[in-house]
Order: sequence, then structure tokens, then C-alpha cells
Amino acid sequence: MTSTLTTPLYYVNDKPHIGSVYTTLAVDTLARFKRLSGENVVFITGCDEHGQKIQRTAESAGIDPQQHCDQISSTFASVWSQWQISNDRFIRTTDPRHQSIVEQFFARVEANGDIIEGRQQGWYCVACEEYKDDPKEAQSPHCPIHQKPLGWRDEANLFFRLSRYQNAIEKLIATEGFIRPASRRKEVENFVANGLRDFSISRRNVSWGLPVPGHDGHTFYVWFDALLGYITALLEPDQPATLDQALSNGWPAQLHVIGKDILRFHAVYWPAMCLSAGIDLPTGVFGHGFLTREGQKMGKSMGNSIDPTRLLQLCGRDAVRWYLLRDIQFGDDGDIQQQRLLDLVNNDLANTIGNLVNRSISMARKWFEGVPSLPQELPSNHPLKQAAQAAVADVASYYQELRFHAVAEQALQLAIAANGYLSDQAPWKAIKDPANRDQVAADLYAVLEASRVVGVVLQPLLPEFSERLLQQLNAPSGDWNELLNWGQLTPGPLDAPSPLLQRLELEEPI
Ligand code: MSP
Repeated sequence: MTSTLTTPLYYVNDKPHIGSVYTTLAVDTLARFKRLSGENVVFITGCDEHGQKIQRTAESAGIDPQQHCDQISSTFASVWSQWQISNDRFIRTTDPRHQSIVEQFFARVEANGDIIEGRQQGWYCVACEEYKDDPKEAQSPHCPIHQKPLGWRDEANLFFRLSRYQNAIEKLIATEGFIRPASRRKEVENFVANGLRDFSISRRNVSWGLPVPGHDGHTFYVWFDALLGYITALLEPDQPATLDQALSNGWPAQLHVIGKDILRFHAVYWPAMCLSAGIDLPTGVFGHGFLTREGQKMGKSMGNSIDPTRLLQLCGRDAVRWYLLRDIQFGDDGDIQQQRLLDLVNNDLANTIGNLVNRSISMARKWFEGVPSLPQELPSNHPLKQAAQAAVADVASYYQELRFHAVAEQALQLAIAANGYLSDQAPWKAIKDPANRDQVAADLYAVLEASRVVGVVLQPLLPEFSERLLQQLNAPSGDWNELLNWGQLTPGPLDAPSPLLQRLELEEPI
């Protein structure tokens, strides 16, 4: 069984922004967790390169659209590598093999009688590449997401007969766990309950798109083509571009992780398209919330966007992963606040966890030349053993449910318990009496072991920080789920510790 996980395929109208980093970090964390748990993962990301929005962007920059796409998608690829994203695939919808997959898929949908000619009138947002239902303002309406004027469209196009799938989609979205978080299900249910209308899947006035076979002058609507990128992405580099081949490499997707603005495409249009083509449905869609910055919507026009590369240079990967995934409940909207970022990173990672590891190793080295060998057997009711068991009990299900903030909280609580235990036991006082040596050894073993468990818990979320932590402890490797169990640190010399994370000081805005 393969677990196929996807980020959205990002538009190449602009460089990556913090929203794309956010989704990609979340899927990276989930993918790392699943791999560590023994699942065979295909983690897909990539770029969505067709459509009017991209065509216009290239035109206004005065460059050929393909050249524009090449430039921006290589920026995406290099940004993901700077962030050490563990994606297995990077799909571009201008990949020639993608055209072939789209054509085969379309042929199946057409053969199923789901393509008809029709006419669509309505207000269109080019930035969303979407018709908007009943805009609030009667005159000069604006897109609620982009705040840009909508354009009136009246087009004779090819339509996909979405209306035929009303019952099937109602049943699908009522399935427990298909749309997550559950709080987002209602809005999709309302949309579907209003009655599904056929939607146009071709354009006559957009040249930057894939031609629709058998329908001269039509190119595919960008969303029809883009969603299929999830399937093309499954092809290995040397495989023939057949739909069956791609599907046999890990379809259906286990989870599409997306922002809430594109939930409808993934939870309604896309499953209906798959039903029409006779292919399995993705098993889940997770719609996360939107990020604002210091209470403001972010955007170029607001002059407050966050450049991922600069953010990385200023803060580093561990800090940003920790802040975004620990502070914002994944699924909810969240506000990025610079002072809070500094506080959480410095308090949690540098102080609570970093200092715990640093001082425990230093004491162990000073008095026992490493991990104390006495006693191997700690009492089964040792408070830190209990704290560690409580911390790990639900960690795997939290990761499965994308509750990253809850994982972070468990790790943090365990580190806090270990620090509290050290303060209570005060080994620096106890060691002064040689009669206490065994007790001090046991205390240090317990805090070092608790630190190791913190490192294991955080491996998917903070891969680099955890690796440094586990290396400093000379911790064993092995099956991740097993490593969560208490009592695996083996005695032996430890090297002098170095800080796990430098305190973050920012002189300027991120
Ligand atoms: N190309 C489509 C997706 C096609 S998937 C087959 C697309 N691309 S996008 O680049 O515009 O958006 C990508 C993702 O960024 C979306 O999931 C969107 O929700 C997310 N975000 C855009 N702004 C965001 C924030 N301010 N905060 C969090 N995520 C945001 O849509």
C-alpha cells in the first residue's frame, strides 16, 4: 500500500510565498511521520502552469509563457530544496507527459457522456481562475479573496456534467473523515445542497492551455488540467505516459492537503471527474486555514508579504517549522507575529528543550563520564517514565490527524516535566554526598532518557533539531514506534554538548 500525499500544485504567477511554505511544511511533516512509521509514501508537490493568469503574467513581463514557467518553477524547486522538503515528486503541468494523461482522462470522461456544449455567464476572477457565485455588490463586484475587480464572462464552452453526480457527491462528503477538519465540511455541504451545476472545462480565448482533442479552438480550463497533475506526478521518469501506468503507482491519493479557498475544487469537482473517468476517489482532503501577518491580510499590494528565502536566512528551518506548526492549530486560520515567533522559539527550543539536554549531558559527563550506567532498571513508577508514556501515547494519532500543535505540546510538556524533575532533585547538591551517587545516576539517566523521547517524538516535525539532539545523546536508531518506548538509552561516553539552537535575535522585520 502506498500513501500518496499532495500539496496543491502552485501557480507560477509568482515566487513561493509563506502560504505555499506553510502547506508544504505540513505535508513534509506528515510524510516524514508516515515514512518513519513504515508506510510507503509518495509525497507530491509541483507547479500549475497553464491558464489566463499565467499567460497575463508572462505577457506583462514581456516574456514567453514557457520561459516564464521555467523560471518560476525552478525557483519553487530550489526553495523546496532550501527548506529540505522531502518530496518524492515535483510535477509541472507543462511536462509533455501531462498532456498525454489529460487527453486520456478526457477521452474517458467524454466517452462516458459527461462532456456537453453549453454556455456560462457570470463574474470571473482571473486570480482565482474561478467563476464566483452571487457577488455581494451588484455593480463592479470584487473577488473576496483577491479584492480585485471581477470580469463579466459570457462563454460558449465545453461543460462537464457535474449535475449528474449530485447524489454521489452528497454521499461522499457525508463520509466521516473525507473532508477534514470536520468544521470545513459544512460549507461544502451547503454548496452541494444548493444543487451542483455543470461547469465549463474549456476556454476559447486562452491560448496558454492544453488543446482539447477533437474540439478545435478550445483549450482546457486550467483547473481541469491542474487536478490531473496529481496523477501525472505518479509516473516514474522512465515510464510510458499512460493513465493506467500512473494510476498503478499509488492512486488513489490518500490525502490532498490544500488551503480552504480551493476546497470546493478538491472535494466536489475533482471526485466527480474521477467518478466519471472510472478511477478511484482520493480518500481525503484537508483544508487548512489562512495566514495573516500581525493581523493583516498578506499580499504584494499590502507590501507585507514574507519572502520564504529571506525568512529562512533570518530564522532557519527549525524555528519556522516550530513556530508555524506549534502555534497555529493546523486547519484554523493563524496570525504570524514576529515577537511571538521569537518568544516561542527561544523559550521552547533554546531554553526548555535545549537547556535540558545541555545541562543533563554536562552533568552526566562531569560526574559519570557519560550516560550513567547505574541503575539500568529504574522503578516502573518513575515519574518521568510515566510522563514519557503519557507524552507518546497519542503522538502517532496526532500526526495522522495533522494535529501538529498537539504533538509539539506533548514534547514540550515532557521536557518541562524533566526540567521540573531536575530542579526538584537538585543533583548538583545531592552529588556532594558520595552516598547519593546512585540516586544522582538514576536521576540523570531519567532526564537524559526523557530528552531522548522528546527528540524521537519531534523527528517528523523538526527533523534537523531532533537529529542533533539524538546525536548528542548517542541515541540508538531503529523502528520509530519502538523508539518511543522508555528505557533505550545505553550507557557510554558522551561528547561535550553544543547548543541545539542558537537563540534567535531579529533586528529587522521578517
Ligand atoms: N494552482 C492552484 C492549485 C491547484 S491544485 C491542483 C492554486 N495555487 S495557488 O498558488 O494560488 O495557491 C496555493 C495554495 O496556497 C492554496 O492552497 C492556498 O490556499 C494557499 N494560500 C494562499 N494564500 C495563503 C495564506 N495567506 N495563508 C495560507 N495559505 C494560503 O490555488
